[in-house]
Amino acid sequence: MAERVTVAKTTDIPEGGCVVVNLRERDIAIFRVNGALFALDDICPHMGASLSGGFVEDGCVTCPWHYWRFRLSDGAWADSPKNKTGSYPVHVVGDDVQLELPEK
Ligand code: FES
Repeated sequence: MAERVTVAKTTDIPEGGCVVVNLRERDIAIFRVNGALFALDDICPHMGASLSGGFVEDGCVTCPWHYWRFRLSDGAWADSPKNKTGSYPVHVVGDDVQLELPEK
């Protein structure tokens, strides 16, 4: 069964910003774009750059190292969607931001 974990307050993540949380020994970047929240593993599947340092535009984050673009909605590489970084549903409950993690 999926697990929901409270990771931040809504006010911790500014519009256009990103915060990184560590859960289950992995860093997860949470982006806020036009009020919506998206959570991706903070690691590029190409060579391991931190996606939290990337540039967000048109629903994608661009890796800062070699400019691969990943969809915020599902972590898929925009040019070849079979390749992905992990993505997680985000829920807002009151002031809490919760990530939905898969069963261990
Ligand atoms: S490390 Fe991200 S595109 Fe190369």
